[in-house]
Amino acid sequence: MRTRPLKVALLGCGVVGSEVARIMTTHADDLTQRIGAPVELVGVAVRRPSKVREGIDPALITTDATALLKRGDIDVVIEVIGGIEPARSLITTAFENGASVVSANKALLAQDGAALHAAAEQHGRDLYYEAAVAGAIPLVRPMRESLAGDKINRVMGIVNGTTNFILDKMDSTGAGYQEALDEATALGYAEADPTADVEGYDAAAKAAILAGIAFHTRVRLDDVYREGMTEVSASDFASAKRMGCTIKLLAILERAADGASVTARVHPAMIPLTHPLASVREAYNAVFVEAEAAGRLMFYGPGAGGSPTASAVLGDLVAVCRNKLAEATGPGESAYTQLPVSTMGDVVTRYHISLDVADKPGVLAQVATTFAEHGVSIDTVRQQGRPDGVGNEASLVVVTHRAPDAALSGTVEALRKLDTVRGVASIMRVEGE
Ligand code: NDP
Ligand code: HSE
Repeated sequence: MRTRPLKVALLGCGVVGSEVARIMTTHADDLTQRIGAPVELVGVAVRRPSKVREGIDPALITTDATALLKRGDIDVVIEVIGGIEPARSLITTAFENGASVVSANKALLAQDGAALHAAAEQHGRDLYYEAAVAGAIPLVRPMRESLAGDKINRVMGIVNGTTNFILDKMDSTGAGYQEALDEATALGYAEADPTADVEGYDAAAKAAILAGIAFHTRVRLDDVYREGMTEVSASDFASAKRMGCTIKLLAILERAADGASVTARVHPAMIPLTHPLASVREAYNAVFVEAEAAGRLMFYGPGAGGSPTASAVLGDLVAVCRNKLAEATGPGESAYTQLPVSTMGDVVTRYHISLDVADKPGVLAQVATTFAEHGVSIDTVRQQGRPDGVGNEASLVVVTHRAPDAALSGTVEALRKLDTVRGVASIMRVEGE
């Protein structure tokens, strides 16, 4: 056992960083045994130095993260600041100064993962980021290492705790959107700017990271089709219930049937109540991975929050420290397949469409013809008087068979032009059947 400690710098001491520091202190002896050397926290970079931080030696606190990294004796840097800058420059500085990096920063990895991996490789250091996707759930390493001999064809999951928390509250308690968001923020699940959560950017960043690992190709944040969940209404939940479904914000990554391209998307979708993802409650995450030889695997657990995320960070810290002692590095980026990422128009799925229409003869036939003209086959149609009692109008709910997204968009565009269609109340994809 080596007695000289491995030196660790912690960048950020907020929801996640404070838990990382706490676990490093309380589990110091166990970490020493598991790594084969003690780990010593030698500096903690923050923005507000005067803030009281329980359990942190005030002498370790600094606002000069760059100077901390340039000491030159840091073995591992844990980046839990978040955002693009200064996190990106600090990680680069860490590599330049001989440190390996553990990060929870999905926004940065989705945007600049390739450059950061290249910098790590150039300097012979590790870049680990288990905490960046799905909080405490071991997912990055199982996909990158345990499934390295298999072929992943599809990944579908709930990868944002905040939005799952909100949708679950709206569905199960009838809570309003803002009330549920405030509760998620107070519990430390939401990002500093919750727009990233509710508009699907956080899930899209995680989708880009997972797609890159799953398909051994580069998928950037801009490649991921994204719709948030702010438009999901109580009436959508009522429609979902009538179909025996609930609504979840899903990340779906697919390899095309011919294997020549991939798609990556994040959007709200109806899923049957019998589907395992329907029973994922509160801020929990769950991810289905379909691999050729392994079959269907499901990963489930707490997807956000300080302590669960710190668990994933600490797991990476142990792995990176072990590599350091072995004078080795772990796996880097694998992007050899260079598969193109197709657009959303190529995605094939089912749709639930609610239309407000004139309640008069021939309307149903006109709507059905529009679907047929665009090659979209209807599975079921249900017509009812408008719940708001508007006279001479009805709600028409159409559920389609599987169709390309481009064909559905064309259908909706044509429907909007019909005199008898007063409005398209909602369009929701139906997944998991
Ligand atoms: P917080 O906002 O709670 O903490 C951010 C920390 O960074 C604070 O300690 C802040 O200092 C510090 N900081 C901000 N700017 C600077 C700067 N310029 N220099 C030095 N320190 C700075 O964020 P979280 O802990 O929630 O998230 C951290 C990372 O973990 C993000 O990338 C996030 O996406 C990711 N993550 C978060 C999860 C969660 O559930 N919260 C789950 C999974 C990943 P100060 O304390 O002085 O304000
Ligand atoms: N804001 C993120 C979420 C944190 O709610 O899932 C975990 O990445």
